[in-house]
Amino acid sequence: MDIIEIRLPGQAKGTLRIQQRRYSKPTTHAPPKQLSRQKAATLIRSKRASQYFGAFSDSKYLKDTAYTAILPNISEFASIIPGNSMKWETTEPSKGTFSFTTADQIVDYAVDNGKWVRGHNLVRYSQLLSWVEAIADKDELLSVMNNHITTYVSAVYLHWGVVNEAKYRNSVFYNLLGVDYTATAFKTARGADPDAKLYLNEYNNDYDVGAGAFCELAKNLTDAGVPINGVGIQGHYILGGITTGLQNRVKALADLGLEVAITELDIRIPSHSTDAKLEQQDEDYAYVTNACLAVDGFVGITVASFTDKYSWVPITFPG
Ligand code: XIL
Repeated sequence: MDIIEIRLPGQAKGTLRIQQRRYSKPTTHAPPKQLSRQKAATLIRSKRASQYFGAFSDSKYLKDTAYTAILPNISEFASIIPGNSMKWETTEPSKGTFSFTTADQIVDYAVDNGKWVRGHNLVRYSQLLSWVEAIADKDELLSVMNNHITTYVSAVYLHWGVVNEAKYRNSVFYNLLGVDYTATAFKTARGADPDAKLYLNEYNNDYDVGAGAFCELAKNLTDAGVPINGVGIQGHYILGGITTGLQNRVKALADLGLEVAITELDIRIPSHSTDAKLEQQDEDYAYVTNACLAVDGFVGITVASFTDKYSWVPITFPG
């Protein structure tokens, strides 16, 4: 196992690590190549900073040479969060059969370019497959969920989005396991890697509606001693819609003793764009950045994406 540990200056809790292990379980693909420790360490140390910027990206974009001319720029992006390569639908196509091929591609790319990765994500209500959705037995689902987490977390170290969008309705996990599935997922992930950074990730958790409930959940988890290191605010905004509430919410979450990160920042322009709207968008990005970086405990911003070409926004919100 190779481990690189970098303590970030001025940040008590901010240790970034990159680690790759050979898979301990048989998988459907060859193990990832071993990381060149020296190379990654040198590159990452050159990017020492107390807070980071990262890019939401994915393995399938790595063939685009115009895109990869920008992505490796260490001075811009210290880290990568993969869009789809690590989601359940990609990594466990059928029960107990794992495929890490695309996940390895993005991890190898990141490591070769001196970046660290946050795995996204282990448990989420969507982008599952029908074999998971069809499970009707509580014990079976618990065993499947725990196996998914353990196999992944003990196979490759990453920072992990353990539960993404903890949905307490219309979710196979909630319907069978109740709210406790979130705590269980974190405990299982911690059992698989005592040192991994474990995050709860959510959208709209910085708006007034929904934000209170999210804070309460984060507080309940920390109060109950559930092993959680941080919370991710996805950060999907609409032009002109960002308020001072964002900083208050980041502070409230950081006050729980958790790291806070923005994990998928985009500010969409409804309908066609104009020069004035693009200017306003620049200002909005700057506002979010300044508002968040001013809070102790806020660790970094991942943009999704740095190009509209590979953003999920135009597909999901056409116009
Ligand atoms: C998006 C992906 O980028 C798309 O390619 C996919 O079709 C849908 O999911 N919240 C998340 C991300 O946590 O994983 C989502 O990503 C965007 C919303």
